[in-house]
Amino acid sequence: MTRVLHLSDTHVSRTGPDEDGVDGVAALRQLLYDVRHVPALDLVVVSGDIADDGSREGCEVVRSLVGAFAAERGIPHIYSTGNHDRREGFAAALSHGHLGPDGSPIGRRADIDRVIAGVSEVNGLRVITLDSLVPGKTQGVLGRDQLEWLAAELATPAPAGSIVVLHHPPIFVDAIPYLESVVLQEPSALGDVLARTDVRAVLCGHLHHQLSGMLRDKPVWVTPGIVTRIDLTAPSTLARGVLGAGASVVDLSGSPLFYTLHARDPRANTEVYTYNPLTGEGL
Ligand SMILES: [Fe+2]
Repeated sequence: MTRVLHLSDTHVSRTGPDEDGVDGVAALRQLLYDVRHVPALDLVVVSGDIADDGSREGCEVVRSLVGAFAAERGIPHIYSTGNHDRREGFAAALSHGHLGPDGSPIGRRADIDRVIAGVSEVNGLRVITLDSLVPGKTQGVLGRDQLEWLAAELATPAPAGSIVVLHHPPIFVDAIPYLESVVLQEPSALGDVLARTDVRAVLCGHLHHQLSGMLRDKPVWVTPGIVTRIDLTAPSTLARGVLGAGASVVDLSGSPLFYTLHARDPRANTEVYTYNPLTGEGL
């Protein structure tokens, strides 16, 4: 098991575009076409905000496009919830998020009330999805029951180690004042569970821009968004969203390597919105 295509934040709605009018379906199609030359993929993961409006229909469109890409390669496709998702719509379209090459569920769902966490094994690599969704909130939280389940799963090492997929990053950039309030709250609780286990990487989305850091002894990778990219050249108090889908390849053949792929979209970098996330004020 060596190579993972990591996607996130497709934000497809029941009618197609997201709340900013951006066509996530077209962005996802373009990106999947442009990454077609990545060799020897073993797995696709999508780390949340599948549906912009939380709808089953939005999740089904993403499942169909990513599923076709995965089926062509004979590899599983695995999804976690994000803050835009709703658990009912997610589960109706994607079960517990772990789907085999033919689209049928693989692995098992955590037996935790109202939480869609799951685990499966792909060529010896254990893939664990966590559910950091808090309905109606932008930030993420992992409850004690989910952390206890995670610790129990990780108590036994997997043949090729593990990756953990969750929407909200347990890291943030200090210099960007709005970030701490929107990422995973109490990240040290997750760090305590993961420390000294066989987890090789923590894969996240949510920020719509790539970012790497460490959570205790574990590398954390945040992949850019499909629907929009957050442009960090904006003043640090502002979030500027621009067009331009991105994805990552996570290479686990040795020490984890993470690299970014950008869709070949001539409209890339066109501004979609700029606003102050702390006040909600637009520009
Ligand atoms: Fe998002």
